[in-house]
Amino acid sequence: MESTVLLLNGPNLNLLGERDPAQYGSTTLADIEARVGELGEELGVSVVCAQSNHEGTMIDRVHEARAYQGILCNPGAFAHYSYALRDAVSAAGVPYVEVHISNVYAREEFRHTSVIAPVAAGYIAGCGVIGYELGLRALMRRIAERA
Ligand code: DQA
Repeated sequence: MESTVLLLNGPNLNLLGERDPAQYGSTTLADIEARVGELGEELGVSVVCAQSNHEGTMIDRVHEARAYQGILCNPGAFAHYSYALRDAVSAAGVPYVEVHISNVYAREEFRHTSVIAPVAAGYIAGCGVIGYELGLRALMRRIAERA
């Protein structure tokens, strides 16, 4: 069976390319989704892309991903306080790899904590947008380990 994974981006990440380029660079979300999709083709996995600015919609997407093999997610600021998203990830029962483009540890203290990281299969921060590609590779390894 070919695997499918969800690439999920959270609030404000639709503005990548315009938003705070010093932190996030000039790559757009469409560019990131295209690149992760291409890498998925190379690795033999279908990548379903979604972005939402709404916590409940993010949770719905995570629930849908129970039908997939894994989740690659940049939850944006929800990482720092959304226990509801963490519970959804925990309930999804598929490996979840979290990506942050910026080095959250070099920024404001509230960004130093991810409440979702304890239930993640992997966590990547501060590598720029390459973190999504690294994250997909790590996620595929985690999926293979379960098979
Ligand atoms: C981010 C880091 C978060 O603190 C911030 O709220 C974002 C983007 C990142 O990719 O570096 O929206 O997740």
